[in-house]
Amino acid sequence: MLGVGLIGAGGVAKNHISAWLKLENATVVAVADADPKRAKEAAAALGITRWTTDYLQLLGWDGVDAVDICTTEATHGRIASDAAGAGKHVLVEKPIATTLEDSDRIILAAHNAGVRLMVAHTYHFYDHSVSAKEVIDSGDIGDPVYVRFSAGGGFWRQDWGGNRISPSDTGGNVVTNGVHATDLCNWWIGARPISVYAQAQNITSSHLEMDDYFMITIKYDSGAIAVVDLSRANVPRSAQWASITILGTDGEITTGGQRDTQFVHNDEGLRTFGLDIQHGFDREIAAFVSCVLDRTTPPVTGEQGRIALEMCLAAEESIRTGEVVAMGADNVS
Ligand SMILES: NC(=O)c1ccc[n+]([C@@H]2O[C@H](COP(=O)([O-])OP(=O)(O)OC[C@H]3O[C@@H](n4cnc5c(N)ncnc54)[C@H](O)[C@@H]3O)[C@@H](O)[C@H]2O)c1
Repeated sequence: MLGVGLIGAGGVAKNHISAWLKLENATVVAVADADPKRAKEAAAALGITRWTTDYLQLLGWDGVDAVDICTTEATHGRIASDAAGAGKHVLVEKPIATTLEDSDRIILAAHNAGVRLMVAHTYHFYDHSVSAKEVIDSGDIGDPVYVRFSAGGGFWRQDWGGNRISPSDTGGNVVTNGVHATDLCNWWIGARPISVYAQAQNITSSHLEMDDYFMITIKYDSGAIAVVDLSRANVPRSAQWASITILGTDGEITTGGQRDTQFVHNDEGLRTFGLDIQHGFDREIAAFVSCVLDRTTPPVTGEQGRIALEMCLAAEESIRTGEVVAMGADNVS
């Protein structure tokens, strides 16, 4: 039985708690959140009594073999490296961190301690993503040469404010939201991203110091390209849409993404597959437990999380400069 400390008990932690409660080979034994009310409520939801506002205290408690870090993006570097340094296996929410320096700090700490490090890129675990990957790996569409990931939604408040939107807390919109898409493109295409170009604009929230709509073009060393086109500030707020197209040399995959019916279309015809949001979290957390207990490589490694982040940081630079930004030569997807 793997004993887990949950660090961060805000919005996404609710999905994590629901997933942890379904597992028989792991159990959350303690919660830490800087906000005592949140820590206490999360502990109650988990049916446990140990909670604290100091994650360092949690790291010192008996029975904590691993941590699940659901804190704000800019805190990941310090908390994840402290946890790995304390010998805990680490599941850290995406993005791995908000800087490459912090990413390296986490990766090095996990390596030195010999613990598993997995980045919680939940989109990796949704039915449509897994099915698309299975279709690609089966050879049904040939070699992937183009991915278009296009998604919009108004689920971030139109009167944006608070820490969920502050670039200094979250890394900004491109980092915190775009990283889902850059990770998926890398996984599906299976090649090394070599350059990034991006444009952005602030359509609906001019009072904010961040862009609410952006488009990233990615070039891979295989010759493949990907286009990520994303907004979370659509008007009306209730607007939700997503569309993913993966073109291969022998066929294509089309999926409506998170909320709609999914389609796979190739020369054999058309078929559908479905999706449920919680399912991605359930699969992700079960996969983390398996990689720790079975001593296997995590399905999303720290290095993969770092590359997905580097692409978003390159996109931010491209937005600022108007230039194509080259990716580091040491990246391996
Ligand atoms: N996988 C997904 O689909 C998905 C969805 C939403 C959010 N996220 C990610 O999850 C993370 C958290 O997002 P959220 O929406 O839950 O944010 P949130 O603001 O709702 O919750 C963050 C929590 O972290 C706590 N916290 C911050 N610093 C802390 C510290 N030093 N010690 C202890 N607690 C601390 C805050 O008090 C808060 O309760 C982010 O990295 C975000 O990008 C992922």
